[in-house]
Amino acid sequence: MTIAVLPGSFDPITLGHLDIARRAASLFDGVIVGVAHNSTKTPLLGLEERVALARAATADIDGVSVEVVDGLLVDFCSRRGAGVIVKGLRGGADYDYERPMALMNRSLTGIETVFVTGDNALSHIASSLVRDVARHGGDVSAYVPDGVADAVAAALSGGSAAG
Ligand code: PNS
Repeated sequence: MTIAVLPGSFDPITLGHLDIARRAASLFDGVIVGVAHNSTKTPLLGLEERVALARAATADIDGVSVEVVDGLLVDFCSRRGAGVIVKGLRGGADYDYERPMALMNRSLTGIETVFVTGDNALSHIASSLVRDVARHGGDVSAYVPDGVADAVAAALSGGSAAG
């Protein structure tokens, strides 16, 4: 039984993330989408909102659950009995970004990171671009799961989509 953790900021979750979650679900017995804090970023969406949006988006994928990653990712993996970290790659820049984290995580506990190639048709989608397009008034609904564009718009206007 191999459980994988698919970690990220998910600020917000995109169709690219969803593609990787589906591919990971077909490879492992269980996949935990781990919504984590990236100390180099200030998120637009609050942690609980990112979790709620990821839960709604992955609700129809068998074997996928969503949790908050509190603290070190490798400690979370140990607590959950997860033997693998899974990450999506859109291209070489992603690999360059991910490689030091994969090596650090392996150095910390020996956990391996498995890289999954995403759908090329989604390779232009990034949470940072979604936020930027939305911030400038563009329509991001083609790049994110249902409900996410409204949540991003609400956050940008200082409110909450739930309210
Ligand atoms: O989507 P992101 O922001 O690129 O994801 C980065 C993330 C959240 C996976 C990384 O910052 C992380 O693992 N944070 C949890 C704390 C931790 O374990 N840091 C050391 C990573 S080597």
